[in-house]
Amino acid sequence: MSRISYVNGQYVRHREAAVHVDDRGYQFADGVYEVIAVSNGRCIDLDPHFDRLDRSLRELQIAAPMPRSALRVVVGETVRRNRVQTGIVYIQVTRGVAKRAHPFPKDTHPAIVVTARHFPPPSEAYINNGVKVITAPDIRWGRCDIKSISLLPNILARQAATVAGVYEAWLIDKAGDVTEGSASNAWIVDAKGKLVTRTLGNELLGGITRAAILDAARQNKLDVVERAFSLDEALHAREAMVTSTTAFVLPVVAIDGKPVGSGVPGPIYQRLRPLYEARVSAELGAFTA
Ligand code: PDD
Repeated sequence: MSRISYVNGQYVRHREAAVHVDDRGYQFADGVYEVIAVSNGRCIDLDPHFDRLDRSLRELQIAAPMPRSALRVVVGETVRRNRVQTGIVYIQVTRGVAKRAHPFPKDTHPAIVVTARHFPPPSEAYINNGVKVITAPDIRWGRCDIKSISLLPNILARQAATVAGVYEAWLIDKAGDVTEGSASNAWIVDAKGKLVTRTLGNELLGGITRAAILDAARQNKLDVVERAFSLDEALHAREAMVTSTTAFVLPVVAIDGKPVGSGVPGPIYQRLRPLYEARVSAELGAFTA
């Protein structure tokens, strides 16, 4: 079965799917994206992802390429045509195709691409034994709350993690605080046993999984606080975790080669993982990851 992608109004064979060389996404990274997990053939938290896409577009003054109802159909159809049961949907919207010039072009329609593919859930080893992270200076711009396709600092940090043989790089701001991972949000369980993740602001992405975990934790009366935490605090934390669309929630057992807590996944993580899975099952009927 060949993969099918949606490109500017048409479903095309994935290997032939292409955008114009003058697409402003290609020229300027002038666009935004979403990655949505698919479980049981259905999208997890689709509306929150649509809400964030709308927000990113609004912040960059890019028009919505189509109404949400139409996008819902395109996403569903792309998942269906690719027979994805467990995987991811990728949506990218750019300002469109125009002769290269920095100012916004006039009368240009935004360009949209939707792809879907099988993507394995995190391995049992990650889920049960945890992952390791390194740290890197956060050298990104001042609007990391926008899910922009401009990801050079993120990919450099993730590449450093890959070369170091670890799962993720945590980005450290000038104050010595952890902003987030290169493609995930960062969490700790502090010395008082509180679950901590950084307050939202321009310096980090409002993760959909972050919001889901916060909600699940609060509903289940876990002690949760949104505040900044330093790398030093993280190194002395009882537990650490990452959340993202592709990781769901994973325990972090080492930071820069130093064990977190006792160096094994901790009790708060052990509570959160099934809570997250139950939340997804409640939304989709089943969690197949
Ligand atoms: N990344 N922070 C950054 C910088 C991210 O790129 C992501 C997601 C997250 C977590 O957000 P969410 O829970 O909504 O996935 C936080 C996606 C998965 C990616 O770029 O592939």
